[in-house]
Amino acid sequence: MNSKQPIGLFDSGIGGTSIWKEVHKLLPNENTIYLSDSKNAPYGEKPKEEILRLSIKNTELLIDKGCKLIIVACNTATTNTIDYLRKNYDIPFIGIEPAIKPAALFSKTGAVGVLATKGTLSSKLFEKTSSKFANNIITIEQDGEGLVPLIETGKLNSKETNELLLTYLSPMLKYNLDYLVLGCTHYPYLIPQIKKIVGENVKIIDSGEAVAKQTKAILEKHHLLSDSSLEPKFDFYTNGSLAILQNILEDVKEEILTKKLDF
Ligand code: DGL
Repeated sequence: MNSKQPIGLFDSGIGGTSIWKEVHKLLPNENTIYLSDSKNAPYGEKPKEEILRLSIKNTELLIDKGCKLIIVACNTATTNTIDYLRKNYDIPFIGIEPAIKPAALFSKTGAVGVLATKGTLSSKLFEKTSSKFANNIITIEQDGEGLVPLIETGKLNSKETNELLLTYLSPMLKYNLDYLVLGCTHYPYLIPQIKKIVGENVKIIDSGEAVAKQTKAILEKHHLLSDSSLEPKFDFYTNGSLAILQNILEDVKEEILTKKLDF
């Protein structure tokens, strides 16, 4: 393994680009390869065995492409497969799970909302983290079923998306929550719409920045931080719509390469 090799990231689709953006902000010189497995989205509605099969497929492709570290940029894939991946592949993995710990720690009202997929909410890792850090607060868990397919079809601010968000979030408000945890990497793209529903008193948090910091720490630990003076390369592969991927990356200033790939 050497420091010039790329960081690999995968997600069930375009949502993990929200993680890529945080990682790139902190580590702008790193080469990266991103896999958007849009063809198989949403993972959150699939059985655990299928989520594992898809995560293995994505991991092996990133290893074949020469990655030095893999970020599982998907809460559903992390909470269901990270232990298996760490045990079976000789490469560092960074995972992402809902930011319950800081929400529980900082909450003043003692009530925290979690919007995530069914796959994440029903996972053992989520249960473990919740019982460890959120034992003495109220957590209101909500499955965001249907949101990922809407985001994957580019309907970020559609009537349908806003109605679904209203259905999921307004019942939470009666609990006087002060934190809303976004436990799916697709959801940060809905923050403006979510804010309109939950109002200013509810802080919205996700794990993107923490993942970027952890990535830096692990690269440092393994002496794998890039010291290259060459322009870094950012490759994005999708097995779904190229236009939708390009659209979500519209705010990226650097030159990126987006490609269709059958995987
Ligand atoms: N971005 C994935 C996550 O963080 C979405 C899961 C899905 O495809 O349902 O959970």
